[in-house]
Amino acid sequence: MILQDEVSKTAVENYNSSTPWPQNDIWHKHTFNAEKEIVEKWLSIVSSQNTLILNAGSGGSVYNTEGTIVHLDIIEKYIKHFEKYLVGSIEEIDLPAESVDVIICVGSVLNYADAQRAVSEFYRILKPNGFLILEFERSDSAEFLCTTNHGKDIFTNVYYYNDQKHLLWLYSERHIRQLLRQFHFKIVRCKRIHTLSSLLNRIGLSEAKSAPFSKLDKIVQPISYPFSHNTLFLVSKTLSIKKQ
Ligand SMILES: C[S@@+](CC[C@H](N)C(=O)[O-])C[C@H]1O[C@@H](n2cnc3c(N)ncnc32)[C@H](O)[C@@H]1O
Repeated sequence: MILQDEVSKTAVENYNSSTPWPQNDIWHKHTFNAEKEIVEKWLSIVSSQNTLILNAGSGGSVYNTEGTIVHLDIIEKYIKHFEKYLVGSIEEIDLPAESVDVIICVGSVLNYADAQRAVSEFYRILKPNGFLILEFERSDSAEFLCTTNHGKDIFTNVYYYNDQKHLLWLYSERHIRQLLRQFHFKIVRCKRIHTLSSLLNRIGLSEAKSAPFSKLDKIVQPISYPFSHNTLFLVSKTLSIKKQ
């Protein structure tokens, strides 16, 4: 049995000796660009000049947005050049209750952590009416089609990423939705990425050749549930906003 400690320990070791996003990796280049576009669009809805934003598992990534950003990561070297930063895990955040307006947690950070503890911390530090932008890699991905893991609520998986062996928790979208509901969070937007690309990769096309099909993600949203590799949620602590 793989314990959370092992997932966390491997993440610290790997990220200490690498970069957050691998060079020359077309699949992850698409992931990064697609997520950035969605995050910036949602930030434009939920943030303004006085908004305090926590970039949780920042990896040094920056977003074009109004507001002040505090960067949090387990790896100090990624964030120490920012004016406001915190070294630590999303499972135990050294910030007071109800102190942050918006949390961004994207780039599979949740997949390296205990999701229950992380979501509980997000709930604690968010102000009432605050927003969470959350992304995770899903067990509903076409990558697991025709295996017993497809749609499984939670399991650990090994990936070779950045020339390293990474250990991640994979979650079903249903599991994360349930977890958010437990904390009375309300999902107000949902986007899925790597839909056709995951499917094509599953049936044998290489990652490099299938990755560009993620450009079609926007138009295949209606069929994305059983195939997409990543889900992004915009989540409200209490308020609901008009559906798009
Ligand atoms: C693939 S990078 C994504 C970086 C950034 N969020 C983005 O989307 O560009 C994953 C990041 O998560 C960080 N990380 C992993 N486990 C974490 C944890 N438990 N708490 C905080 N950060 C963590 C890593 O150090 C790394 O910077």
